[in-house]
Amino acid sequence: MTERILVTGSSGQIGSELVPKLIERYGADNVICVDLKEPADKLCAFEKLDVTDREGFEKIVKENAVSQIYHLASILSATGEKMPEKTWEVNMGSLRHVLDFARDYNIRVFWPSSIAAFGPTTPRDNTPQQTVLEPSTMYGVTKTAGELLCNYYHLKYGVDVRSLRYPGLISWKQEPGGGTTDYAVDIFYKGLATGKYECFVSEDTVLPMMYMDDAINGTLKLMDADSGKLTVWTSYNMAAISFSAKELEEEVKKHIPNLEVSYSPDGRQKIANSWPRSIDDSVARADWGWAHEYDLSKMVKTMIENLKKKLL
Ligand code: NAD
Ligand code: SER
Repeated sequence: MTERILVTGSSGQIGSELVPKLIERYGADNVICVDLKEPADKLCAFEKLDVTDREGFEKIVKENAVSQIYHLASILSATGEKMPEKTWEVNMGSLRHVLDFARDYNIRVFWPSSIAAFGPTTPRDNTPQQTVLEPSTMYGVTKTAGELLCNYYHLKYGVDVRSLRYPGLISWKQEPGGGTTDYAVDIFYKGLATGKYECFVSEDTVLPMMYMDDAINGTLKLMDADSGKLTVWTSYNMAAISFSAKELEEEVKKHIPNLEVSYSPDGRQKIANSWPRSIDDSVARADWGWAHEYDLSKMVKTMIENLKKKLL
C-alpha cells in the first residue's frame, strides 16, 4: 500500500527538516503539509489550516486518503506561559482531533511529547521512563495529558500512536519557535552575526539536548518499528547530550574565539529549572534500537559550518 503522509506544523523547526526526509521516502506526491505559516520552501502540497478547525482538518484527511499523520503543530513552552488557555485549546484540541481521525480512518500517528512533561517533583538526573509527571507549565500539562490520551486511545481503540519525549532540539535550517531551550540555538545565530550573545538562562543551567538529525532519524525509526516490540504507548524517553549553558559557550568559542557571552536569566529560567538535567532512555534503546550519533563537539561543528554558509 502506498503510504499517504500528512504533516501538521510542517513549517516549524522540526517540520521543515522532517518533510524533506518524508519526501525522500514516500515521494512528493504522497506528502501533504499543513500549517498556519507558509513554508520557507514549498517541496510538496501545502494547505493553510488551523488544526483546531476540526471540519477543515477532517476534510483534508479524507480527501487525501491519509494513512500516517505526523502531528507537530503546537504552541511551545515559553509562548505557552503567555497564553495558557490558547495553548490548551491548540495542543490538546488538535491532538484529540488527530486521535479521533486515527481511530475512524485507521491512521498511524506520530505525536511528540517533551521533557516538559516532567516537573519540579521529577528526579532531575537520569530521569527514568516511568516517574512522577507533575509539570508546572501549561505546555507541560498538555504534554502529560496528551501522553495519557494517546495511551488511552491505544488501549481502548487500538490506535497506533507513537511518541517521543524530545529533549531541546538544535538545528540550523529553521529557527525555533517560542521554546525554553532556544538559547542553545540562538547562541549560534547571534554569535556568528554579532560576536555577542546575552543568554536568558544562567551559565550553570543543564538541560537534555539533541541535534536535529538524531531526532529525525529516531522519529522515523520509531515509526518503522514492529508494533509488537513497543512496550510504551504514552511516550518514550529519548536522550543524546546534556550540557550546561557555559559548556556550550566554551565549545562554541573553539570556533568563534572572540565571542562574548553574558547571562541574564529571565522568566524562562524557572521553566528550565523545572525540567530534568539528563534522561534515562534505556527502554527506547532496548525496544526499538534507538541510538544517537551527535555529541556536543560534533553538533557544534556541524551548526557552525552550516550557519556560516547560510548567514555569512
Ligand atoms: P515550531 O514552533 O517551530 O513549529 C510549530 C508549528 O506549528 C509552527 O510552524 C506553527 O505555525 C504551527 N502551528 C501553531 N499553531 C497552529 C495551529 N493552530 N494550526 C496549524 N499550525 C499551527 O515547533 P517545533 O519545534 O517544530 O515543534 C514541533 C513539535 O515538537 C511540537 O509538538 C513541540 O512541542 C515538539 N517538541 C519540540 C522540541 C524542540 O526543541 N523543537 C522539543 C520537544 C518537543
Ligand atoms: N524545546 C521545547 C521548549 O523549550 C521543549 O519541548 O519548549
